[in-house]
Amino acid sequence: MKENNIYLVGLMGAGKTTVGKLIAKQTGKEFHDSDLEIKCKTGVSIPYIFEVEGEAGFRARETAAIQELVRQENIVLATGGGAVLSAENRQLLKENGTVIYLRATVNELWARTRHDRNRPLLQTGNPQAKLAELYEIRDPLYREVADLIVDTSRQNVRFLVNQILQKLETRKKC
Ligand code: S3P
Repeated sequence: MKENNIYLVGLMGAGKTTVGKLIAKQTGKEFHDSDLEIKCKTGVSIPYIFEVEGEAGFRARETAAIQELVRQENIVLATGGGAVLSAENRQLLKENGTVIYLRATVNELWARTRHDRNRPLLQTGNPQAKLAELYEIRDPLYREVADLIVDTSRQNVRFLVNQILQKLETRKKC
């Protein structure tokens, strides 16, 4: 078990990248982002992969990236919002580190993603309804995989990160 690894899960707009970078900085761990790994490996954007290979093609690449990333030591990984859909990904995360679910309400997620054109699943007529639908399906999966659930609602990011670090410390002692 790669006990020193921290994996962040949660819906698009939950703050996985922002929070993950700060946790990495404060703990001296290396930050990784599974979407970024996929982009670097393929040399194209996530929307382009969705367009050419469909969501299934993207998900296969996502699992391959996670398989590789969890082998590393002492990292903070921001996963893509849909990573938990795969039972294999959930098991990989659970068995190789501490999983943190950054939870936010649909309204907050909507406010944080409404101007974003880089998330193919939200390029629909009603992205707010889409987020609500994704929340319904995924919230139980995030909860299933998580060691810690943290509410990000209206919280200052630094405060949130300190709260997470404190919780992680307490877990270590118990
Ligand atoms: C997705 C979330 C995105 C990205 C892709 C699919 C999803 O990552 O992996 O667009 O299914 O929720 P972020 O959660 O970092 O936006």
